[in-house]
Amino acid sequence: MRSLALAAAASLSIVAIALATPGCDPGEITAVERGRELMDDPDVSPSSLNHFACTTCHALTETQPATRRLAGYTLAGVARRKTFYGGAEDRLLDAINFCIVQYMRGVALTETDANGRAMYEYLVSISPGPITEGLPWTVIHVIPELTDPGDAARGKQLYDATCRECHGDLHTARGALEPRATRLPEEATSFYDANFPGIKHRTIVTEKLRNGGFFGIGGQMPPYGAELLTDAEIVDLYAYIGLPP
Ligand code: HEC
Ligand code: HEC
Repeated sequence: MRSLALAAAASLSIVAIALATPGCDPGEITAVERGRELMDDPDVSPSSLNHFACTTCHALTETQPATRRLAGYTLAGVARRKTFYGGAEDRLLDAINFCIVQYMRGVALTETDANGRAMYEYLVSISPGPITEGLPWTVIHVIPELTDPGDAARGKQLYDATCRECHGDLHTARGALEPRATRLPEEATSFYDANFPGIKHRTIVTEKLRNGGFFGIGGQMPPYGAELLTDAEIVDLYAYIGLPP
């Protein structure tokens, strides 16, 4: 078996050969099946503090499910993309490890790790077809002041599809997947005036949405690239969450 570190393009055929000769123990599940299980498994990370699985942030279907708007792109087709993370990574394993380390408090997988190989083979199995360009992913560094009032009804739909899995219900955090996810909006905004005097609450939240835990902000929340959540959608969210312009 060749190294996981191969660029996706070069390794597709190699993995196809490996998959064509599965182990002969009848009770054993295939690497692809194991890889599929791992997509839903927070234990990909050894940290007991981690509650996220790959599917917390990524769909596995060709198109995004109607009821969920996730921070990451779908992983269907990922192994045939030339680059990842908007061109910042050109090895699939590095992109996966970025997520495991940054969001899941985990340890980077090596090229020979059984879980890493199973995941890779599963991702290849949902990536038929020719090599494609990587998807654009733009990190917003300069945070705009969003003054549009927004639409609360659209914002509710979006909250349910985007934020609710981790943060639970608005005001109560009921049903939150992540016990450390801040109760919105009260818990988040309660310390803003003391910590960031004079800065609009919207601007502080936009900075969190755009940068996640990066650029000195900290935490495990993923950043939302410009392509995956637009400013127009963010103002709708604010109308629902209760953050006036
Ligand atoms: C907390 C959210 C989160 C979790 C959990 C997560 N990711 Fe990601 N992932 C992201 C974000 C955000 C991006 C950047 C946008 C993008 O490129 O999809 C990303 C990017 C990627 C990419 C690059 C996709 C591309 O085409 O650019 C791969 C591959 C990937 N993740 C795999 C995984 C795998 C496998 C797991 C589970 C071990 C995982 N991720 C867990 C949020 C997450
Ligand atoms: C994958 C899980 C996840 C998703 C999805 C998510 N969050 Fe978070 N969020 C967290 C976690 C965990 C924290 C607390 C730790 C941290 O700051 O990263 C947090 C913290 C926050 C904070 C507090 C920041 C501060 O100033 O302390 C705000 C505001 C916030 N999230 C808003 C949102 C909104 C709005 C959405 C939907 C667009 C969203 N989050 C989606 C996990 C998530």
